[in-house]
Amino acid sequence: MLIEEHRSLKLFNTFGIDCKARYFVSITSVPQLKKVLSQEIHPSLLVLGAGSNVLLTGDVDALVVHIDLKGISIVSETDTAIRLQVMAGENWHEFVRYCIEKEYGGIENLSLIPGNVGTAPLQNIGAYGVELYDVFVSCATIEIETLKERTFDRSACEFEYRDSIFKNKAKGKYIITSVILELTKTNHKISASYGAIQEKLAENHIENPSINDISNVVIAIRRSKLPDPSQLGNCGSFFKNPVLDSEAFKRFRSKYPTAPFYEVSVTQFKIPAAWLIEKAGFKGQRYGDAGVHKMQALVLVNYGGATGGEIWELALRIQKKVKQDFGIYIEPEVSVI
Ligand code: EPU
Repeated sequence: MLIEEHRSLKLFNTFGIDCKARYFVSITSVPQLKKVLSQEIHPSLLVLGAGSNVLLTGDVDALVVHIDLKGISIVSETDTAIRLQVMAGENWHEFVRYCIEKEYGGIENLSLIPGNVGTAPLQNIGAYGVELYDVFVSCATIEIETLKERTFDRSACEFEYRDSIFKNKAKGKYIITSVILELTKTNHKISASYGAIQEKLAENHIENPSINDISNVVIAIRRSKLPDPSQLGNCGSFFKNPVLDSEAFKRFRSKYPTAPFYEVSVTQFKIPAAWLIEKAGFKGQRYGDAGVHKMQALVLVNYGGATGGEIWELALRIQKKVKQDFGIYIEPEVSVI
């Protein structure tokens, strides 16, 4: 276990921001993690998984712990279902493909989401009508202050739309080391209700899609509008979709009758932030090396040499203009450090 000083984090964040960590260590076992946390290396700590949901706005004056725990094992199994324990450092998409090859269903709609398994619970990753919540059983963690192991079951995680206890009350207090998910072996629940999925299935003349078909369709849709971080630095959706109450929604709707929305409940309406950002005039705009993706206005991109500060400046500019134009506050989905 090597503790490096002034290490570049360029390869450890998908925005590709070239900033430095005061101290940096990669962790490959839970005992190693406990050992590092028990030493007084630096008073501040930043835990990084795949760095796919973080904007680093400058050098990080902290101990950066890169979680590189690997492994997949079977916890229990029946004829119809299987529980897998997956270590936090496994790449999410590779894990999805592993499940599809083994014919385990439940996460095919979450194909190609960047990031690692261990960071998936933080923001309850979701796409095309499925969320991690749907298959989640529990996660194992280490409490940073006491080094005690604690398991959070599904209700203890307090999952919400792109949210969990780990972004709120428990923020910065625990490190997730592994996750247990329950997947189906037979009678998979195919979720194909999203318009984009239906269109792609029809285009390919697929009537009874398998989990592999769904995964392939999701991959094709995502590739067509979301940039690949290895080609163009980005963190997927930068902002959350704002949720309006009935009153605010009524006012918004009377002004913009054609705006898209999703009804979350009878009193809550989600407006696509991408639509607000596009209407505010930012889609495809570029300011130096920081920009707004031309296919998906919710995605901010680094054309190569942008600093984290420049991306953040652009995000603030977007936030201000959307507030001015629509009276709606859009909140970042990524963690801004
Ligand atoms: N739209 C625009 N302009 C754009 C893009 C979209 O006006 O540039 C409008 C369209 O009307 C479209 C609507 O926004 O119908 C919604 O767009 P999309 O289906 O692409 O979904 P989204 O709400 O923008 C969310 C997730 C994505 C996830 C997709 C698909 C959030 C914050 N983002 O995006 O997640 O892939 O749904 O389910 O909820 C991520 O978290 O990194 C991510 C990419």
